[in-house]
Amino acid sequence: MPLVRQQFRHLLDESDCELVFLDDAQSNPLLNGHRVLTYSQWLAEPAAERFMNVAISESLLREGLVQRCAADGVQFFEARAANVVQLDDVQLGDGAVLCPFVTLTSNIRIGQHFHANIYSYVEHDCVIGDYVTFAPGVMCNGNVHIEDHAYIGAGAVIKQGLPGAPLVIGRGAVVGMGAVVTKSVPPGVTVVGNPARMLVK
Ligand SMILES: CC(C)(COP(=O)(O)OP(=O)(O)OC[C@H]1O[C@@H](n2cnc3c(N)ncnc32)[C@H](O)[C@@H]1OP(=O)(O)O)[C@@H](O)C(=O)NCCC(=O)NCCS
Repeated sequence: MPLVRQQFRHLLDESDCELVFLDDAQSNPLLNGHRVLTYSQWLAEPAAERFMNVAISESLLREGLVQRCAADGVQFFEARAANVVQLDDVQLGDGAVLCPFVTLTSNIRIGQHFHANIYSYVEHDCVIGDYVTFAPGVMCNGNVHIEDHAYIGAGAVIKQGLPGAPLVIGRGAVVGMGAVVTKSVPPGVTVVGNPARMLVK
């Protein structure tokens, strides 16, 4: 919320725009100076336009909420810290959260509702799908492809791929915190450790 408050301060100063939290399990009507509404309370309030950022890291839940909001005519906005660094030719889908100290370098494609937590980076020529989540401090090196709904844990390092032969993190895969990923990860698999190996319970 503080990022968004800073990002949209001109609108907040000059119009009747208001920033609120939405939480269907609310227990307190105010949080950090902002009203907390349920989704249906929010929809019932008069507004010419309404915009949402779904700041929930669980990607399937995030997608479900995005679909529900889109069906209700809600639009999505990007939440971007003022100190995010973005270089040349970066395409980024709707609804991202880019936290403080995130860096997106050049020639990068990123899908819808991407979350990059503090100090994460995406290096050159990466392709990232929809609903991908980076915990704090993810180091995603060049020529890596990350498919939809993958989750990359805090401090994970992903080795660079090659042009035409990217390192691929498969759809819905989970990379544990602190992992050092040296090879492609199949869809749906969890890997941990250095070098990262499949987590078998
Ligand atoms: C990898 C992960 C998803 C596994 O979660 P889980 O399925 O609940 O696994 P468990 O906690 O039951 O641990 C299973 C085993 O894996 C080990 N393990 C768990 N995470 C590990 C990691 N990141 N690296 C190395 N080993 C790990 C546990 O020590 C345990 O080992 P044991 O069986 O010898 O005791 C999780 O531990 C993780 O790293 N999540 C990312 C957390 C994160 O980045 N949070 C940021 C929040 S902003």
